[in-house]
Amino acid sequence: MDFRGAHIISVKQFERADVDQVFQVADNMEPYAHREKVSKVLDGAILGNMFFEPSTRTRVSFGCAFNLLGGDVRETTDVKTSSITKGESLYDTARVISGYSDVIVMRHPQVGSVAEFAKASRVPVINGGDGPNEHPSQALLDLYTIKKELHSRQRAIDGMHIAMVGDLKHGRTVHSLSQLLFLYKDIKFTLISPEELRMPTEIVAELKAAGHVVIETDDMETGLHDNDTVYLTRIQEERFTNKLEADIYRGRFRLNQAIYTRNCQPNTVIMHPLPRDSREDANELDNDLNQHPNLAIFRQTDNGVLVRMALFALILDVADKVDLSAKPVGWYTESRFE
Ligand code: CP
Repeated sequence: MDFRGAHIISVKQFERADVDQVFQVADNMEPYAHREKVSKVLDGAILGNMFFEPSTRTRVSFGCAFNLLGGDVRETTDVKTSSITKGESLYDTARVISGYSDVIVMRHPQVGSVAEFAKASRVPVINGGDGPNEHPSQALLDLYTIKKELHSRQRAIDGMHIAMVGDLKHGRTVHSLSQLLFLYKDIKFTLISPEELRMPTEIVAELKAAGHVVIETDDMETGLHDNDTVYLTRIQEERFTNKLEADIYRGRFRLNQAIYTRNCQPNTVIMHPLPRDSREDANELDNDLNQHPNLAIFRQTDNGVLVRMALFALILDVADKVDLSAKPVGWYTESRFE
């Protein structure tokens, strides 16, 4: 695809070569994200960071990614403080904000809302999550992390075994990641969820039609055997019409040190898009794994900055100009990246 000026709405837009291109540019961003060098390639550009649903890492990492390339960020952090509460349409909001910005990231609770917003926008729009539908930049950073983690274990994405665990019905990160993995070869998916929270049937059918193996189960301990990666998800309480229903499922599938050691291969990578629900009745990914070398959750969040910098650089067509304005950082920094 031609990234220049493109909206990024769904992982279905990508061919495998597009993913490779994003990853290659992301690799080049490392000295900037790791505070070795400073670039001003987007000096004067403005990101409209429009979040109409709660977020910590997507909103902040998109903002940091833009700042690290020298650009400025203007943002909303919820619906309550935007004029959408006064009845303003997505169309009008998009027309207005796209006059103020060079690129927009948007998160909104409704499926299809970001695509609708993008149609009215005068500048490129990146989907930061539209309800339970998609989260394409998360899928890219997840896959980038998987690639790096497996590479360090002499494995590749093609042929890998991945278990996805939890609320696979409402989890937009697993929807986007599995559809991105569709582009690779011979993946074995073990989908571990309660019967009622299974992966949407159309996604499962697409994966099977592409030749991937898909096993659906509610037996977590058996499902954890023989995987290169285990990808846990939170019960998405905010997507349930009856919030009490979420209580039925919360805490049902948990990974802790004992369960990991009993069931997983010693090299299995542990991932989670975060936030994990660390309340006692949930705790799908226990703190007792925090020091485990295979826990990749904070490498995922660090990689998110690289991938989001790459998306901005490609969309705004500066990927080959980033180094031209580079200079060493002028402040004290300590290395804190793995
Ligand atoms: N992974 C993710 O989307 O996290 P936030 O909701 O904090 O942005």
